[in-house]
Amino acid sequence: MSKIDELNREKWILGAFPEWGTWLNEEIDAEVVEPGSFKMWWIGCTGIWVKTENNTNIAIDLWFGTGKRSKKTKEMEKFHQMRNMTGGRLTQPNLRAAPIVYDPFSVTTIDAVLSTHYHNDHIDPFFAAAVMKNCAADVPFIGPQESVNRWLSYGVPAERCRVVKPGDVIKVKDTEIVALDSFDRTCLVTADEDIRGVCPTNMDEKAVNYLIKTPAGNIYHSGDSHYSVYYAKHGKDHQIDVALGSYGENPVGNQDKMTSIDILRMAEALNTKVVIPFHYDVWTNFKADPLEILMLYNYKKHVLQYEFKPFIWDVGGMFTYPQDKDKIQYHYRRGFEDAFTDEPNVPFRSIL
Ligand SMILES: [Fe+2]
Repeated sequence: MSKIDELNREKWILGAFPEWGTWLNEEIDAEVVEPGSFKMWWIGCTGIWVKTENNTNIAIDLWFGTGKRSKKTKEMEKFHQMRNMTGGRLTQPNLRAAPIVYDPFSVTTIDAVLSTHYHNDHIDPFFAAAVMKNCAADVPFIGPQESVNRWLSYGVPAERCRVVKPGDVIKVKDTEIVALDSFDRTCLVTADEDIRGVCPTNMDEKAVNYLIKTPAGNIYHSGDSHYSVYYAKHGKDHQIDVALGSYGENPVGNQDKMTSIDILRMAEALNTKVVIPFHYDVWTNFKADPLEILMLYNYKKHVLQYEFKPFIWDVGGMFTYPQDKDKIQYHYRRGFEDAFTDEPNVPFRSIL
């Protein structure tokens, strides 16, 4: 049989996806965290993997789905949150713009699965299934009530789920997970009914922010929070070393993601040492240039005497704290560290 006869769509999909195969799984499993530090990987959107010096592994908002894949559905569902929020009907063109860099079904070790809220890009049935099948029988699934409702709907047993609301603290090995208020107004208006004129009161059941307190420093994960003046209170109540904020270029009629100045204001209010934008990678219609944050930072850092640094990351990249706290921009490993181990196989050296 010829190659042409053997090849089909299924073989292409299994051969090409996930785009990074198990490269990143292998890296996370193998990476040794030095005492006095922690490591994080950006899995895409607001998905973050944290690994501590005592090998505690915590995954927040991992998600392995896609956005739109067809133009056939012309309008959003009647109570879709973006329709609720904007009053627009046309299907939003949110196609997935970042590759999938982690293979959920190759997960080996994890100590807690966290979700900030129940929107589709912050909780994942495939990862839940893989953790249930591959990992220890007591790994908790931690999130607000609505995220737990999602896990229960996938078939995660109730005894594995831990509902958190702002103020709750859960200890996971050497790490403390503190649930804090979310400021995600898009989540607040996610409702399957007419809520015009109704003041919603169930935010704490829908979304939380997290402070992940490791022995080497604390990470503030703000989920899809908008800008809030209350970041200043979180900054007063907690030591924050690295803060992650959802950044994006909002289409007209939207105020769904923080802008460049919001990210800087958030960092200043939280009194963090490092601020990292995320989420701008994943949706085609909210794509934003993170270097805009750097430009504004350089414009304002002296006059406002910023004490933090921004870090512009890439999906699939690793960040080590405190070693990388002054780095500003990430670049993927470039390789070829062992160049000239052998004599190059070229006709003569002057060709090089
Ligand atoms: Fe989101």
